[in-house]
Amino acid sequence: MKSIVTGGCGFIASHVVDRLVGQGHDVTVIDNMSTGFRENIAGHLDSGKVSLEKFDLGDLKKTVKALKGADTVFHLAANADVRRGLEDNFRDIDRNLIVTYNVLEAMRRNDVKRIVFSSTAATYGEPDVFPTPESYHPRQTSFYGASKLACEGLIEAFCEAYGMQAWTYRFVSVQGERHPHGVTYDFVKKLSQDPRELEILGDGTARKSYLYIGDCVDGFFLGFGKADARVNLFNLGHEEYVNVRKVADTIVDEMGLKDVRYRFTGGERGWIGDSPLVHLDTSRMRALGWKPKVSIEETVRRTVRWLLANPYVYGR
Ligand SMILES: NC(=O)c1ccc[n+]([C@@H]2O[C@H](COP(=O)([O-])OP(=O)(O)OC[C@H]3O[C@@H](n4cnc5c(N)ncnc54)[C@H](O)[C@@H]3O)[C@@H](O)[C@H]2O)c1
Repeated sequence: MKSIVTGGCGFIASHVVDRLVGQGHDVTVIDNMSTGFRENIAGHLDSGKVSLEKFDLGDLKKTVKALKGADTVFHLAANADVRRGLEDNFRDIDRNLIVTYNVLEAMRRNDVKRIVFSSTAATYGEPDVFPTPESYHPRQTSFYGASKLACEGLIEAFCEAYGMQAWTYRFVSVQGERHPHGVTYDFVKKLSQDPRELEILGDGTARKSYLYIGDCVDGFFLGFGKADARVNLFNLGHEEYVNVRKVADTIVDEMGLKDVRYRFTGGERGWIGDSPLVHLDTSRMRALGWKPKVSIEETVRRTVRWLLANPYVYGR
């Protein structure tokens, strides 16, 4: 099987690359290196098991050329930074929706029939049903979530029109080895610079589910292997959730710090589009035999340890 992994130098997709290589697949990564790191897949590149095509998926012509002969596309390239949509509201349309159109159109032109797509819990906006099931009608609060929901719609339309098949996952925040953005990344960075005080966006009460990268990728491949509808949509999250203050406490403890003052910026949300509670209903995925193995606390601790040992992710 020849697999294409878009965004394969990024956090989650590099773990997808690891699994595909482990399963003996022929893998091509497409990445524009905007937020990706060669280091994330360096071992595979050096051993020749993976080839890397560096270009931007905004270029349809190059995308069509790169997908020739592919069997499945694992499409994870995106602007994954939710907050930046506020500064530039075209960014998510351009980086997520148009890029996803290009990937789908390149698939159509090359007769590639299978796409596995990373959507997000942000598509639910601020739901009023918890845990939130896939059938919940989403109400958008961020350009990021809106663009990902639009991508899901495009994928469905391509599947219907051209006989393609899709596996779409709505993840909660994922952490673990190679974690390059998000709460733990930010807090470790701030605490390394000033171990006495930590600025926390919001009032610290926002509650979130976090998922360990290994559990996330397990779900990703289990659904792909077992579900066989034309469009397969799954939530991936944890049955636990924790508030931001607890995440900060765990990070402070794992870093061996004491008497850190928390300075809250205030408000229930860290920023517009941030949801005060993220907790997904994962019974659809569990019915296939999946459940997270790593607790949220252990996920945060492993992430802190990895970040401290691998400062390259703070390099840009
Ligand atoms: N990290 C999370 O907690 C989380 C949660 C929900 C959904 N997701 C989704 O999972 C996917 C991966 O997220 P991540 O956290 O690993 O992000 P990441 O930024 O580490 O990875 C994204 C990768 O895509 C590449 N890329 C971006 N735009 C590109 C383009 N136009 N052309 C080519 N390459 C491009 C980047 O260089 C990077 O290597 C994204 O689609 C994101 O929306 C992530």
